[in-house]
Amino acid sequence: MKHSGRKLSAVLPIATAAGVLLAGCGTGPKPVSASAAGESAFKAVLPTLEMNCVHCHGEQRLPTMPALTDTRALGDLIGPGKLIVPGRPEESRFFKVVTLTDNEAGAMPPTGHAITARHVEALQKWIAAGAPVPAQVLPLKPRGEAPRSR
Ligand code: HEC
Repeated sequence: MKHSGRKLSAVLPIATAAGVLLAGCGTGPKPVSASAAGESAFKAVLPTLEMNCVHCHGEQRLPTMPALTDTRALGDLIGPGKLIVPGRPEESRFFKVVTLTDNEAGAMPPTGHAITARHVEALQKWIAAGAPVPAQVLPLKPRGEAPRSR
């Protein structure tokens, strides 16, 4: 599968060079990393979200569900006491739900299949790296077949 449609490699360094951090604009999340490690952690987690979560948590989601429509909405989930606790995957509900088994309430995706170990690892590493998101808001788009309920 191709996932190079988004010119991340171009977007991220530009955003970094401009030094425009969401932290500065008051509406976004605080944890934005301009580091190369942050960029690569985000690039690795992007397909994880778009292949496993965005189909349900995008535009068509139920109003009570956390929104994954773009990186700003993702940023709104990040912070102390929120679903994504920067640097602390083990305290992050957003990570916990992908480690639950089908028999445990709240497992995500709630479809009778677990996400791959690689995707779990990408999510864990991204949160451990402080859950950086790019300064520029990027849309999150579902990739591949929608995870289905059984
Ligand atoms: C098949 C649709 C579907 C997919 C795919 C999906 N979710 Fe969800 N998610 C839901 C629904 C429905 C709810 C609200 C009901 C609930 O809380 O169980 C929800 C709620 C949540 C919640 C808030 C509730 C809680 O337990 O804290 C989190 C966090 C979450 N999802 C994370 C994820 C992550 C991360 C992924 C991708 C790995 C994902 N979801 C993929 C349907 C989905």
